[in-house]
Amino acid sequence: MQSYEKLLLENKAWAEEVRDRDPGYFDRLAAAQKPEFLWIGCSDSRVPADIIVNARPGAVFAHRNIANQVIATDFNCLSVIQYAVQVLKVPHIIVCGHYNCGGVRAALDRQRPDLPLLNKWLMHIKDTYRAHRDEIDALNSETERANRLAELNVIEQVIRLSQFSIVQSAWQEQQRPTLHGWVFRLDDGLLHQLVTLPPGSDVDVIYQQRRGQDS
Ligand code: CO
Repeated sequence: MQSYEKLLLENKAWAEEVRDRDPGYFDRLAAAQKPEFLWIGCSDSRVPADIIVNARPGAVFAHRNIANQVIATDFNCLSVIQYAVQVLKVPHIIVCGHYNCGGVRAALDRQRPDLPLLNKWLMHIKDTYRAHRDEIDALNSETERANRLAELNVIEQVIRLSQFSIVQSAWQEQQRPTLHGWVFRLDDGLLHQLVTLPPGSDVDVIYQQRRGQDS
């Protein structure tokens, strides 16, 4: 059997098992989604959002990319955020990074001439390193440096979220969403909270939206 055929077989078995346990399950699932969480995570296959928080289908609206980045010119990520905030009205956005992240480790290294697109994608993480260079360089090992940068990268993305007009408008009008920065540890499977920004948190003035007559 080919590896992908195993996936299709597993899917059949899963659907059957769920239907046996709860015959109305898929009718309810098909009707609508009302997730409470937008998850922005790394594409890494070892950090599957729904599984590590034991969530059922319908609970987590997700966007994943290399090194869980929120980049202001990335229409893909921004579209997901806009839909989650303005249409699904999620109360929480979670940016989840992980230790031993290949994207973060690569950002600490030289650019690879064979991967020009990835070099560009990782530039923002290099910028974060540059902003925290003293702290990171003071750490003893490459692993520690990469892991601290993984944490700082998550915190940067949460701050970036708070700078978007989509988020600021929702904060002002609906007192949501709360922004969370988490990091996942591969060797024990546990999540750790790094930062939480509730609605109305301070935003540097140059990132604030003008209001009313100001605009
Ligand atoms: Co990663």
